[in-house]
Amino acid sequence: MGQHTYDDQHHEIEQSDFERIIEKGLSRRSFLRGSATAMGLFLAANPLANAVAAVTGSSALLGFKAVAASTADTFEVPEGYIATPLISWGDPLLKGAPAFDPSGLQGADAQALQFGDNTDGMSLFPLAEDRALLAVNNEYTNYEYLFAHQGKQALSADEVKKAQAAVGVSVFEIRRTDGRWHYVAESDYNRRITANTEMALTGPAAGHALVKTAADDSGKKVLGTFNNCANGQTPWGTYLTCEENFNGFFGASTEDFAADKHQKRYGLKNKSDYQWFGQDARFDLSKNPNEPNRHGWVVEIDPMDPTSTPLKRTALGRFKHENAALTIDNSGHVVVYLGDDERGEHLYKFVSNGKYNPDDQAANRDLLAEGTLYVARFSATDGALKGQGEWLELTHGKNGLTAENGFADQAEVLIFAREAATQVGATTMDRPEWVAVNPDGKSVCCTLTNNKYRGVEGKNQPVGGPNPRAKNHYGQIVRWWPRGGDHTAAAFDWDLFVIAGNPNVGEGLYAGSSNVTADNMFNSPDGLGFDAAGRLWILTDGNYSNDGEFAGMGNNQMLCADPQSGEIRRFATGPIACEITGLTFSPDQRTLFVGVQHPGEELAPSHFPAGGDSKPRSTIMMVQRKDGGIVGA
Ligand code: FEO
Ligand code: CA
Ligand code: CA
Ligand code: CA
Repeated sequence: MGQHTYDDQHHEIEQSDFERIIEKGLSRRSFLRGSATAMGLFLAANPLANAVAAVTGSSALLGFKAVAASTADTFEVPEGYIATPLISWGDPLLKGAPAFDPSGLQGADAQALQFGDNTDGMSLFPLAEDRALLAVNNEYTNYEYLFAHQGKQALSADEVKKAQAAVGVSVFEIRRTDGRWHYVAESDYNRRITANTEMALTGPAAGHALVKTAADDSGKKVLGTFNNCANGQTPWGTYLTCEENFNGFFGASTEDFAADKHQKRYGLKNKSDYQWFGQDARFDLSKNPNEPNRHGWVVEIDPMDPTSTPLKRTALGRFKHENAALTIDNSGHVVVYLGDDERGEHLYKFVSNGKYNPDDQAANRDLLAEGTLYVARFSATDGALKGQGEWLELTHGKNGLTAENGFADQAEVLIFAREAATQVGATTMDRPEWVAVNPDGKSVCCTLTNNKYRGVEGKNQPVGGPNPRAKNHYGQIVRWWPRGGDHTAAAFDWDLFVIAGNPNVGEGLYAGSSNVTADNMFNSPDGLGFDAAGRLWILTDGNYSNDGEFAGMGNNQMLCADPQSGEIRRFATGPIACEITGLTFSPDQRTLFVGVQHPGEELAPSHFPAGGDSKPRSTIMMVQRKDGGIVGA
């Protein structure tokens, strides 16, 4: 798979999962030379106050011994911990599923019954003390392992069907016996949701002309979900799966296809390395220009009912959704924080019209159907690494979202949410990935993974506020406090919880904030989540070259932070060329489930998890303490 690059005047669109390939080719020297001017100007005006005031001693919240950075083809955990695979790409899930063939070359029919590829965000739904369901995203698929020709030839119809069956969502039962969890093949609960599963569009954009196609004149019946990145979970027992780089699955069969301004903003173009459009006209923009408008949403799934219809929630806006961090505000409104992972895109917030009723879960089922969408604008005194912010309403008729400015109605505001965000003056961010709400309800964090275009001429992404570094190769975590503890409030206060960096080779902000040391350094924070005790877990999807400005960081990793003291400690390291993504805990907090995504991508020399000369496989790992204690404590 090659890179996906698209330029228009304001935004360069590129699939994030391929980004590291170019980053690898960038020498430290050119990196420093390129950023020196913008950085120098910034430093001159800035005393370089550290983002986190001070790291106060050794945290009582973090009870494990840090692991060293690693370039080994293994999943390393702290002393006294054990990590074992729970399930890998291709393991049999549904009734009649064949065992995984180590060649990885089984056809579409087998894949449709097996665990999907590229495990990502996941949530756990308890059934009983030792039984639960896991709902897991299968973000995309690696043709270099899926097909003998590695995707270098035109795909056959069966190959496209196989790729479409390898993505989406897997729901399956897990059971605990002898202290360990095991997945239950052929459980009645098990389900695969793929790029061809029927689902419904709901909310203000459902039925709009822009979501009608030749195959669906209702504009309400959509097939499939794909590029399901991260996730969310509701207190009424449903799973939220978030459609991210959906654009990469569309192409155009006609030579003269030219993307319109909306398609450009969403990165749609004539070429697609996934090649679905060659065998499935639904993905051919020349024939079905409205089909992509039906993707890029948050989808709500009832994991308890394998026959239920997944619901695409258009009220939460259409963009490259990372995750959906849901909290119930003191007022009872459901608030969902949402990142749009692209350089210079935005951070959003949804507030439901209705209120959560803890005594009647059935009454909560449509709370995500209607509400108000907002986008964040940050402000700061020059050079300050903290400041204030406000949520700008994305409602038709307000803030310039009018027909005159190209928004005919609320459906258009939501379908083209990115353009609405620009219209109202939202802050361009360094690729918002996961958002996590502190269980104390008072603060919220978001990973800003990196952004090589920050401060670059012509990109309209000025340095400042929560995005303080030009050509930001390391990323940071922004944290905010809703004003008055009210998640529905328009105002908030923010700081930076950590600025990732490399104290060995970087200077100024590039060395990282005071809670970054030679012993815990990392780049490109991505996955993020709090456990029940309030530990903040950070997962990385970055440059794993261990070279140049990334020397000493090793493979992608998992860290654990104390939000109070600011201390960050490395908890785990992944195998070669993987991303660590997706995390959830057993209700007793004694098992951590964490995803190892695409070990050995681009044919890097990984044989994880089976070793020997096996094909590498995306795998959910189960991490426990040998003494059965609480993970992280
Ligand atoms: Fe699928 Fe932005 O990560
Ligand atoms: Ca990835
Ligand atoms: Ca991610
Ligand atoms: Ca990422």
